[in-house]
Amino acid sequence: MSAIVIDGKKLAAEMRADIARQVAELRARHDVVPGLGVMLVGADPASSSYVAAKEKACEEAGIFSLDVRLPAETDRDEALGRVRAMNGDPRVHGILVQLPLPRHIDEGAVINAILPEKDVDGFTPVNVGRMVIGETCFLPCTPHGIIQMLVSAGVETAGKHAVIVGRSNIVGKPVASLLMRKCEGGNATVTVCHTGTRDLAAFTRQADILIVAAGRPGTVTGEMVKPGAAVIDVGVNRIPDQSRKSGFRLAGDVDFDSVKEVASLITPVPGGVGPMTITMLLYNTLEAARRAVAS
Ligand code: GUN
Repeated sequence: MSAIVIDGKKLAAEMRADIARQVAELRARHDVVPGLGVMLVGADPASSSYVAAKEKACEEAGIFSLDVRLPAETDRDEALGRVRAMNGDPRVHGILVQLPLPRHIDEGAVINAILPEKDVDGFTPVNVGRMVIGETCFLPCTPHGIIQMLVSAGVETAGKHAVIVGRSNIVGKPVASLLMRKCEGGNATVTVCHTGTRDLAAFTRQADILIVAAGRPGTVTGEMVKPGAAVIDVGVNRIPDQSRKSGFRLAGDVDFDSVKEVASLITPVPGGVGPMTITMLLYNTLEAARRAVAS
């Protein structure tokens, strides 16, 4: 058996076209252009490329983006000051602080400084709390994108065993929470595995839905997957490759070639979860602008 490869790029393009239509409608009706403030501290190549992709996607959707790029030596007070300035900027409906921040900056303090109504990444404690108890909030983009992909691919989550590999605040913990919700794309039985899990394969082999966000290529191979499972690969790893102009190629956390022979559905890297993450960011920014209009 060879798995169906979920085309994240195609789904993202369809959703982005719809978002662009709604952005144009908001502009025509209320003379409001949704705006996203993007703050990047330092010049980490992967972060720089994510931020550039987010800004390009904003432009294509008709969303204004305010680009705040700061040197790696920026101190905590300067970073906090920039976030507060975006909190008070009426052009900015959503704020994204690209993570990770340099080590000397207290990430929690910076995230906490974002107004919850502008927290389109869904990372502030207020939004995380609202998500966990099922209140209306901005859902974090990668987990939300994963749920959208599962639903649109027709993967039933209710009553299924979802196993997540990775316990990060950005992916593992929130996607576990979303899969447990009492709604479409939820009602799953969820197991979260991490670097302290003994005999990882014993858990992954039980998964009807396997979500891998471990940050390490080759974390899951074909013999670790239950036949017919849906496998979502969240990893983005740069593998040195001198045959490429960039000097690297991208690989996920899943060994695509062996897993696609066992799974029924699989997401590729690149072109799987990544485009959906950015799409959900556009969606949240549009929603933040709508709420600002309504308030
Ligand atoms: N770093 C890796 N993923 C993300 C994300 O979804 N949002 C932000 N702000 N930083 C990230």
